[in-house]
This record gives sequence, structure tokens and C-alpha cells, in this order.
Amino acid sequence: MHNDIERVLITEEEIQAKVRELGEVLTREYEGKNPIVVGVLKGVVVFYADLIRQIKVPCQMDFMWISSYAGTESGKMLVRQKLSNNIEGRHVLILEDIFDTGRSLQFLVDTLKEQNPASLKICTFLDKPERRVPGVTVKADYTGYVIPNEFVVGYGLDFNEKYRNLPYIGVLKEEMYSK
Ligand code: IMP
Ligand code: MG
Repeated sequence: MHNDIERVLITEEEIQAKVRELGEVLTREYEGKNPIVVGVLKGVVVFYADLIRQIKVPCQMDFMWISSYAGTESGKMLVRQKLSNNIEGRHVLILEDIFDTGRSLQFLVDTLKEQNPASLKICTFLDKPERRVPGVTVKADYTGYVIPNEFVVGYGLDFNEKYRNLPYIGVLKEEMYSK
């Protein structure tokens, strides 16, 4: 797998330092609020598992799996797995691996707001602001790293379901997705 990587963008050590930093901020934010931490499957699992252990106040875990309809760039989203908790009146923190076009997070926020949570915030590990499409108005409340417009893999992120288990964030060699 390492041979397919053009360069390492964020090392394992940098990731862990950033996760601890985010954890400290979120610990202060959610003291006494018993939030529901919603992970967006599947890319977020690695970040989720690390970050949840750095949030040192009681919280509940939940997950949603959404995807765009295959073979389209229309941005229509499909809920593949719903939340298992009722979030009405609860503090909800959405965790995402990467904020790219923003279609997923916009859809998620619109969907979850209908269920009247007490608060709804977004924490994304990576943000590629250059990729945002018109119509996306949501903003991340907490961001790990802002990165350039390049396709990255590792730390949960995949290309065709590969590379999720790389411990760092790397830029994939162009030949890997052009062939
Ligand atoms: P959105 O475009 O903001 O809706 O992001 C949709 C999803 O695309 C993300 O949750 C990731 O799973 C995936 N994605 C976007 N950019 C990348 C990338 O650079 N590498 C791997 N997956 C990505
Ligand atoms: Mg994702």
C-alpha cells in the first residue's frame, strides 16, 4: 500500500496530537451535556475511535451511513443506515472524516434538524474548502486540518475501499486512479 502513496500529508504523530487537541476542546464544550456523537460511516471509524477516547465526559455513540446514488454527480443522498437513538432535545455532535463538496454534511444537517436536537455541531477531521459546491451552507464547528484540493487516503479514507487502514493521511499517486 505504501508504494501507492505519492507523499505523506499528515503523519501518525501529527494525527494523534490533533486528536488530543480536539478532544480537549470537545471535553470542555460537552461537560454535563451527555451528547450523542454521530459518526458518518464508513470513513469516520478510525477518527471516531480515536477521538471518542479523548472526549473525557459521558457521551453516547451512534452512527449513520449515507451515500450518494451510484454513478451520479447529482448530489442526491440515500440513507443506508439510520440513527438508533431519538435525538429530540439532545445535544448532537456529528463526526466526519472529510468535508469535501459538503453535500453529505448538508444533507445530514438538514435531516437531523428535522428531529429537533437541542444543539447540532459538526467536527470534521479534514476540510477541503476549495471543493465546496453551491447550495452548501453548513460550516464545520471544529476542524482538524484544512488541506489542499488533492485526493487523500488513509486514517479511514479510501479509494475503492482500499487504504482505509493506513495509519497516516497520504496523497495517492495519480496513476492509481487514472488507470
Ligand atoms: P462530500 O463531497 O463533502 O459530500 O464528501 C463525501 C465523501 O466523499 C466523504 O465523506 C468521503 O468519504 C469522500 N471523500 C471526499 N474527498 C475524499 C478524499 O480526498 N479521499 C477519500 N474520500 C474522499
Ligand atoms: Mg465519509
